[in-house]
Formats: sequence, C-alpha cells, structure tokens
Amino acid sequence: MQRLLVTGGAGFIGSNFVRYMLEKYSGYFIVVYDKLTYAGRLENLQDVAEKFAGRYAFVQGDICDGAAVEAALAEYQVDTIVNFAAETHVDRSLMEPGAFIQTDVFGTYVLLEAARKLGLERYHQISTDEVYGQVLVDRSKETDNLKPRSPYAASKTGGDLMVLAYYESWGLPVTITRGSNNIGPYQYPEKVVPLFATNAMDDQPLPVYGDGLQMRDYQYVIDHCEGIDAVLHKGQIGEIYNIGTGEEMTNIEMTKIVLATLGKPESLIRYALDVSKLAGLGWEPSHSCAEAIEKTARWYAENEWWWRPIKSGELYKAYYAEQYGKRLGVGSRG
Ligand code: NAD
Ligand code: TYD
Repeated sequence: MQRLLVTGGAGFIGSNFVRYMLEKYSGYFIVVYDKLTYAGRLENLQDVAEKFAGRYAFVQGDICDGAAVEAALAEYQVDTIVNFAAETHVDRSLMEPGAFIQTDVFGTYVLLEAARKLGLERYHQISTDEVYGQVLVDRSKETDNLKPRSPYAASKTGGDLMVLAYYESWGLPVTITRGSNNIGPYQYPEKVVPLFATNAMDDQPLPVYGDGLQMRDYQYVIDHCEGIDAVLHKGQIGEIYNIGTGEEMTNIEMTKIVLATLGKPESLIRYALDVSKLAGLGWEPSHSCAEAIEKTARWYAENEWWWRPIKSGELYKAYYAEQYGKRLGVGSRG
C-alpha cells in the first residue's frame, strides 16, 4: 500500500487525511479524486500541493463516473482506494435526498466495481456512527443493527452494505470505519461548531436547536485520521471499526465552550425550534416574534376586565410571592 486514491479529498476530513498521510509516510503517493461540490475546495489542499508537489496529484471527477475513476486508477497505478466522497450534511439530505443516494450509494458501488476489476490491494470506506440510529442505552457496537434515521444516514448505510457485499461475494479486500462527529480545521460552516464559532466572531446569535440537550461525540479530525491509518495498516480485512472519543456532550455544553474560547457572551445563545416538519403540511406563522409581542401587550391593555380579577385573587398572590418573592424583592402585595 503506497499509492492511494483519496476520493472526496478536497473536503473537510479528506484534506486533513491527505496532509496527515503525506507528512507521516514519505514513500506514499496520493491522488485526490474529487468532484468539487460546494463542500470541496482546492484551498483546503493549497499547502499540500506546494509542500508535496512530487507525491501529490489532483483529478477533478465524479465517483459515479466509472470510466473516469478507472482512468485515474490506471494513470497513477493506484493500489488502494480510501473513499471519503459523499454528500454529508443531514439537514441538506432532507432537502435533496436524491443527491445522497446517487453519490453515497451508487458512487460507492462504482468505486467497488473499479477496485474489483483492477484487482486493488485495498478498498477502505469512510462511514459514520449515524448508521446505528438513535442510541438510547449503552454505546453502539460494530455488530449492532443499523437503524438510520435520515436520508444521509440511510445512504451511508446503503454504501456500507454494498462494501460488505463485495467482500462476501468476490472477496474484495475491504475495511470500513465509522466515525463520530468530526470537528477541526477546514470544516464547512454549515456544521454546528464552525457555524457557531464564526457566528460568535461576528457577534451573531448561535441558533441551538430544540432544548440543546441532544448528545454528540465531537472528535478532533486528526484523531479520526490516526484511527483510519491504524485500520489501513493493522485492521482485519472484511471488518468494521468505530472511531470516536467514547465521550459525549450536549449541544448546549459544546456551545458554551465555543463562546468561552472566543471570549464571547452566553447572551448570544438562541434556542430555536426547527419547524420544518409542520411547514411540510403547508403551515407558516403569520406573525413575527415582534408582531406577536406587540399584539399581545395591546390585548392586555385593552382587556383589564379579564386579568385584574385574576391578579387580585388570593391564589395568584400566594403564587407570585413564592415564585418571585426572593428574586424581585416583592411580597404578597400582588
Ligand atoms: P465534506 O462534505 O466536507 O466533503 C465531501 C467531499 O466529497 C467534498 O470534497 C466533495 O466535493 C466530495 N464529493 C461529493 N460528491 C462527490 C462525487 N460524486 N464525486 C467525487 N467527489 C464528491 O465531508 P466530510 O465531513 O469531510 O466527510 C467525509 C466523509 O466522512 C464522508 O463520507 C462522511 O460521510 C464521513 N463522516 C463525516 C463525519 C463528520 O463529522 N464530518 C463523521 C463521520 C463520517
Ligand atoms: P451537525 O454539526 O449538523 O452534525 P450532525 O447533525 O451530523 O450530527 O449538528 C450537530 C448537532 O448540533 C445536532 O444535534 C444538531 C445541532 N445543531 C444546532 O443546534 N444548531 C445548528 O445550527 C446546527 C447546524 C446544528
């Protein structure tokens, strides 16, 4: 294993992996094969192209294009494919699932077929912990059932199953790694940590979905690259390996760390509900927050008859003293 085709190598994790491998293994040659979608950027590899000019090549191409894939494999005498290429953002997969099926499932098949035809030494698939679905108790093991919950996760699951099918059916020497949420340099600012860090820098609000209590295992991208490296060199053919910190953290904890790191106030945190589910039924609110507040305040001003008896009742006075007495320094005067 010395000549690698790294698909999706111009993306976030792929570009970190290419840099890491070229720095670590002086005898390796790496070809990045990437379609350069919105997520793929040559700037991610600018330093690599300069520093490793003789051991690095870039080919712009789609993994769904079998002829182009085979041409690149032959031209650079590749012995190993590491497939990072994918549509990767869960929120986008709800908007355009077809693109995910095309690249993450069909594209994986095209690469496997090329690896089989050319008799490559290894095919390695980069997968995700999202194939396991929601984990309510304990931790996901590699042997767990797969219960993807988004078009993204379902497409990645399809890709994984195709990889295993090529191992079972033709003995293709495959390995799979399933990583948790990666964070680090060159991550597109649609994912939560770069989005929040960049919003905070501009003093823009940080939109935390729901109550912010969802848990994620945020791992540093270079740790993930080291895990992939270990599986490439020491992993067993036909096997799957999870890669993560094994820890978890709520989104709100993560958000507070981002703000503390950048010296920004927690007042930037905004809890925002994702209402796209109901919007799918054709609903949309007719009032902005400001309009709703103004309209409500006006109603109370015009309808004293309704609230004054409530507020002067004994029940209400007792509640008020209990709830706000200490905080506001008020008694049960009402
Ligand atoms: P990314 O979106 O930053 O990069 C994806 C890359 O794939 C881009 O360079 C894009 O141009 C390229 N690409 C997309 N479609 C292509 C196609 N049809 N042909 C060729 N290239 C194409 O993604 P990332 O976060 O770096 O993720 C890389 C891989 O790691 C993906 O397979 C993803 O499922 C997996 N993964 C990501 C995470 C994470 O937290 N980001 C966690 C676990 C696993
Ligand atoms: P994200 O980085 O999009 O990764 P994934 O959905 O693949 O895990 O989101 C991580 C968590 O952050 C997820 O629980 C959703 C939440 N999130 C927010 O609260 N606000 C945001 O603006 C985004 C993008 C994500």
